[in-house]
Amino acid sequence: MGVMPLLRSDPLRFFNDAAHRHGDVVSFRVGPMQAALVRHPEAVKHVLVDNNHNYDKQTRAYDVLRTFLGSGLLTSEGDFWRRQRRIAQPAFHRRKIAAFGEIMVHQTGEMLARWDDIAGQGNTVDVAAEMASLTLRIVGQTLLSTEVDTNAGEIGEAVTRLNHWADRAIDSLLPIGFPTLGTLRAWEASRRLDAVIDAIIRRRRDGEQRDDLLGMLMETRDADTGETMTNRQLRDEVMTIFLAGHETTATSLAWTFYLLSRHPDVERRLRAELDRELAGRQPSADDLPRLGYLQQVVKESMRLYPPAWIIDRRCVADDVVMGYQIKKHTLVLLSPYLTHRHPELWPNPEGFDPDRFVATLEESRPRYAYFPFGGGPRQCIGNGFAMMEAQLIVATVLQRFRPWLVPGHPVEQEPLVTLRPRFGLQMGLAQIATAAEAA
Ligand code: HEM
Repeated sequence: MGVMPLLRSDPLRFFNDAAHRHGDVVSFRVGPMQAALVRHPEAVKHVLVDNNHNYDKQTRAYDVLRTFLGSGLLTSEGDFWRRQRRIAQPAFHRRKIAAFGEIMVHQTGEMLARWDDIAGQGNTVDVAAEMASLTLRIVGQTLLSTEVDTNAGEIGEAVTRLNHWADRAIDSLLPIGFPTLGTLRAWEASRRLDAVIDAIIRRRRDGEQRDDLLGMLMETRDADTGETMTNRQLRDEVMTIFLAGHETTATSLAWTFYLLSRHPDVERRLRAELDRELAGRQPSADDLPRLGYLQQVVKESMRLYPPAWIIDRRCVADDVVMGYQIKKHTLVLLSPYLTHRHPELWPNPEGFDPDRFVATLEESRPRYAYFPFGGGPRQCIGNGFAMMEAQLIVATVLQRFRPWLVPGHPVEQEPLVTLRPRFGLQMGLAQIATAAEAA
C-alpha cells in the first residue's frame, strides 16, 4: 500500500523518482500485486520484441479499456488479434496513407479558415481541443469515409469522459464495473459513442462499397466458415480506431505547438525550412522527405511528451530481464516517458532539442531508446499515418499562423491513458502574411 497514494496522485513523479533512485529495473508492490518498472532500452526490447510471447495484455489497464473497446485491435490477443491485424494492415500501407495526405491538408485548411475569423476578432483558441476535433475528422474521413462534423463535439466529450474514467478505474481497488457515479457516466458516454458508430455501420451495410478500412473489415470473410464480421466485431474495431487513432496524435500536436511557442529559435528554423522547400505552396506527402527539420521537431516533441506515456504487460511465466528475476504474473510497466529521459542516452533530458534526431545521432542510440509507438508485433498500426498527419498539420498551420501561449495560462501534464495538457492550451493566433499579401 505504501506507494499507492503517490502512484495515484502524481504517477510521473513516482516513476521518475523510482528510476532515479533505483535504476533500470525497479520492483515494487501495488496493493497485492507485484510490479516491475522497466526503463532500459535493452529491457524494453526484451519485453516487446525478443520475448514478447511471454508478455500479454491481461492487465487491469487493458481490462478497463476492454469494457468500452471490446476486442478490437488494441485489446485483443492471440489468433483473433493476428487475423484482425492481417485484415487491417493493408489500409495502413505506405501508398494508401500517402493518398490521405490531401484530406489531412484540406481538413487543416478548413480549420484555419475558422482561425482566420477568430484571429480577426482578437480571440484565442484552445489548441488542444482544436487538434482533437481536427484529428477526429481526419480519422473519420480517411479510414471510415465518414463526416464526423455534426458529431465531433459529442464524440470529443465522450472520449474525454472515458479517458478520465479509465484513469480512475485503472488505479481503483473496486471491481472495474462497480457502479459509481463516474462509472455510470462513462457507460453513458460509451452508449453515445455506440450510437454514432452503429449509425456509421448501418449506413454502410445499406449503401455503397468503399475502399477504406471499414470496407476492408466488412468484406473480409472467415476462411473456414465464409462468414463476414459481426456488427459487434465491427463496432469494436471502429471504436478502437476512433479512440486510438485521434486522441494520441492530437495531444502530440498540442505539445508541439506549445514547445514551438516556447522556443522561438526552433520555430524560426522550421519556418525557414518550410519557406525554402514549399515557397508558400500547400504541403503534400511527397514533400515530407525534404522537410527533415519538421520531422525532427515532431519526433523531439514526442520524446518529451509521448502521448502513450505508459505501456503495460503481464509476465506470463518466470523470466529474467537484464539479470533481474521477474516472477510470473508480475505487472511489467514500460514507460516511453521515462526511457526518453534516460540520462545515459539523452544529455540534458528535459531540454527541447530537435537536433537529437539528425540521422547520425539517431543511429548511434539503441533502437528502444525511443519508442513512442511501442514495438514488436504489437507496434502501433497507425505509426506512419500519425507521423505524416502530425507533420502535414504542423506545416500547414505554421504557413498561416504563429500560435503563442496566452500569458498566465497554466500548462501541466496530465497523465491519463494519454499524456494531455491538463488545462488545455489556450493560444493566440498571430497571422502570417502570405507572399502575395506581403507584396
Ligand atoms: C502520435 C500518435 C500515436 C501514438 C503515440 C500511438 C501509440 C501507440 C502505442 C504505444 C501502441 C502500442 C500499445 C501497446 O503495445 O500496448 C499503439 C497501438 C495501436 N495504435 Fe497507435 N498511436 C498513435 C496513433 C495511432 C493512429 C493514428 C492510429 C489509427 C489510425 C492508431 C491505432 C493503433 C492501434 C489499432 C493499435 C493496436 C495495434 C495492435 O496491437 O495490433 N494509433 N499505438
